[in-house]
Amino acid sequence: MTDTSEHFRRATAHQRAAIDAALNYYTSDFLGGILDVPERLRAAMRYSLLAPGKRLRPILVLMAAEACGGNWKEAMPAACAVEMIHAYSLIHDDLPAMDDDRLRRGRPTCHIEFDEATAILAGDALIPLAFEVLAAEVRPPEVAVACCRDLGRAAGARALVGGQMDDLAAEGKGPSLEELEGIHRRKTGALLQVSLRLGARIARASDEQLEALDRYGAALGLAFQITDDLLDCCGDRTEVGKETGKDAAAGKLTYPRVLGVEGSRQRASSLIDEGCAALEPLGERAEPLRRLARFVLARRK
Ligand code: IPE
Ligand code: IPE
Ligand code: MG
Ligand code: MG
Ligand code: MG
Repeated sequence: MTDTSEHFRRATAHQRAAIDAALNYYTSDFLGGILDVPERLRAAMRYSLLAPGKRLRPILVLMAAEACGGNWKEAMPAACAVEMIHAYSLIHDDLPAMDDDRLRRGRPTCHIEFDEATAILAGDALIPLAFEVLAAEVRPPEVAVACCRDLGRAAGARALVGGQMDDLAAEGKGPSLEELEGIHRRKTGALLQVSLRLGARIARASDEQLEALDRYGAALGLAFQITDDLLDCCGDRTEVGKETGKDAAAGKLTYPRVLGVEGSRQRASSLIDEGCAALEPLGERAEPLRRLARFVLARRK
């Protein structure tokens, strides 16, 4: 692991442990017993949600709340809601009808470990759970409503799902940078961007703080998917925890395909600079977000 990654891992260990504990609660006691949830469905939801991911999106929620002067613990339900949407999107993204992947987070994908129908339903169940958690746990109610609206928009047809649709449709098509950027901003960037927005809302951020985080999130979100493309083409399967070389084999529209490996690295790097510059109005309190951005650029998983 690079120094940046090791530093990031250590600096966020405390928050990651708290996130995992909260995700555990929302898929155990919060959900109720066997009479409420079929055991196999719960097992599949927990298998994917609690698997060892980086927890980058929930960490963004917590860091944004802190950067705006809030207490990160108050942002925990929203952090979990975002990770639920992310986990569902991974379960469905891996299905045979989509990317047909067998390895995720270093483990068999949900439909391999269970079966396709169970994986579809586990993903389905995580979506309403995310909104239930926001509605039930975010206070005051007007902030909960704003969080539900923002997350619904980022997870829906205009962003994540629309981007996924166009990502599949673009397989095998000629390279177009404009189309590629639009796909990446929607399928991946929007969820990272909204993570910051939810944290900011919960901390009662000013318009100026919200705007700064939106600009940082837009740049970071796109850079994150560029580095995901780079890991697919040049990363190490064991380290990354998912199959590599799959994008080129499927004829996916990716940054390395359009800009080449070096061009993609440069684009990611200039987006990270742009994102960090946008944090200026937040001052010193945004230092963890600057470090996170540098981690995204250097990441090997
Ligand atoms: C993978 O996201 C899917 C993309 C949107 C690129 P992450 O790389 O954040 O996956 P985990 O959560 O660490 O497994
Ligand atoms: C996935 O993009 C984006 C979403 C899951 C919304 P990819 O298909 O590149 O993600 P990986 O590489 O399978 O994690
Ligand atoms: Mg995909
Ligand atoms: Mg995929
Ligand atoms: Mg990928």
